[in-house]
Amino acid sequence: MVSRVIPVDPFDLVIFGATGDLSTGKILPGLYRRDADGQLPEAARIVGAARSPMGDEDFRTLVRAAIHAAIPEKKRDREAIERFLTRLSYVAVDATGEDGWPELAAKMRPDVVQAYYFSVGPGLFGALAERLHAHGMNAETCRIVVEKPFGHDLASARALNATLAEHFDEHQIYRIDHYLGKETVQNLMAVRFANMLFEPLWKAQYVDHIQITVAETVGVAGRGGYYDKSGAMRDMVQNHMMQLLCLIAMEPPYAFEPDAVRDEKLKVIRALDPVRPADLVRGQYRAGGGMGSYHDDVEAPDSRTESFVALKAHVSNWRWKGTPFYLRTGKRLRARTSEIAVIFKDPPHSIFGDQEGHRANLLVIRLQPNEGIKLKVTIKEPGPGGMRLIEVPLDMSFAEALGPGAQEIPDAYERLIMDVIRGNQTLFMRGDEVEAAWAWTDPIIAAWEARGDRPQSYDPGGSGPEDALMLLHRDGRRWREIRP
Ligand code: BG6
Repeated sequence: MVSRVIPVDPFDLVIFGATGDLSTGKILPGLYRRDADGQLPEAARIVGAARSPMGDEDFRTLVRAAIHAAIPEKKRDREAIERFLTRLSYVAVDATGEDGWPELAAKMRPDVVQAYYFSVGPGLFGALAERLHAHGMNAETCRIVVEKPFGHDLASARALNATLAEHFDEHQIYRIDHYLGKETVQNLMAVRFANMLFEPLWKAQYVDHIQITVAETVGVAGRGGYYDKSGAMRDMVQNHMMQLLCLIAMEPPYAFEPDAVRDEKLKVIRALDPVRPADLVRGQYRAGGGMGSYHDDVEAPDSRTESFVALKAHVSNWRWKGTPFYLRTGKRLRARTSEIAVIFKDPPHSIFGDQEGHRANLLVIRLQPNEGIKLKVTIKEPGPGGMRLIEVPLDMSFAEALGPGAQEIPDAYERLIMDVIRGNQTLFMRGDEVEAAWAWTDPIIAAWEARGDRPQSYDPGGSGPEDALMLLHRDGRRWREIRP
């Protein structure tokens, strides 16, 4: 099944930080793929902006190399690459000074969509917004795209929102959380709100608990400077995992429209209880398997920053009171796998008597890899010998179910950048949402800092510290295994 590609309107997209890792690794190769798929109109232009002086041709050479590095040879189309490169130009801009701004302003065409992607460190977000405004690049129809981290805590997120609001309206600000651009994350909403099957059962009365796992095999080597000031709580829980939790827990929005969806997500965040210290486990990976420890990777032998977090959260509203949400994320774990598991309650009474191994229904939404949905149901084991129950999975891998076209699931960034051009904010975070997420996160971090807690060390290639297992054992539950 091949997806329908609808070209977007003509646009000028400026990428600040165009020579950086995110731009060359994700944004530009993603834009190339959209172009090769026919989604960019003839009049789409991309302007790279960064501090170092460089000619258009040198920039194109750099982007050609970036596309080659990001996309395997058999998926590259030489002609399409060359056509894509003709859309590119470059301007050297000093984010905090005057250099380059008049040249940039002169490049922008007034009659097309203008978007400015801030693919730079958070310290420059405010300066860029201010410069764009000063040079008249903030008209009603202009959009800015702001990368994470959006603040380091509530106070800095508020300050950043206030700075951006001086120069742009909320409807012009696209705060990226790339998890929202993942195909299966959007599918969460489709599964919940386009089927009758699940929604009536989607509540504390029928759901025993929910597990959200985002496990990674990589460590933090190479980005230790950023990561050590952040840690798993700020890097993953406050944003990506919070978004997953919201999509699982929210009430049905009245429409799949930006404010309708974001209003419902905000209510979930506000309904989150504070997390008790006993319901939180932090970990840090040891050396092993020929790789260095967390301390080696961040070059800070005394660091207390966590590379793993597991916690139990409660959403205090009518729908969810009493159903815990267990969240777990970490680096250097056994496998790269992200999934949401909804574990339903046992039937109230078994007419088949007690049978070992017979467990409740389970719905697993696999975000990556092998995107898909699995529903575990209990059936009778075939054959004679009485009524023996077994569990079988109804397993749907999207790649298998939807055919070869579905294997080309676009990268999250591709989807999100096209949404910016279309002017659709549904999959972007609103300012109040980000602030609410920090308002929940801040006291958790403040509490462990006040206690001077050290994270527990864990072996690389496993499933995190012992205590993370205990978090569920204590409640008579078990984490699902982390496996590829
Ligand atoms: C980023 C985090 O936002 O998300 C990284 O900063 C993390 O630490 C990454 O590795 C995970 O994204 P994905 O798409 O690979 O699951």
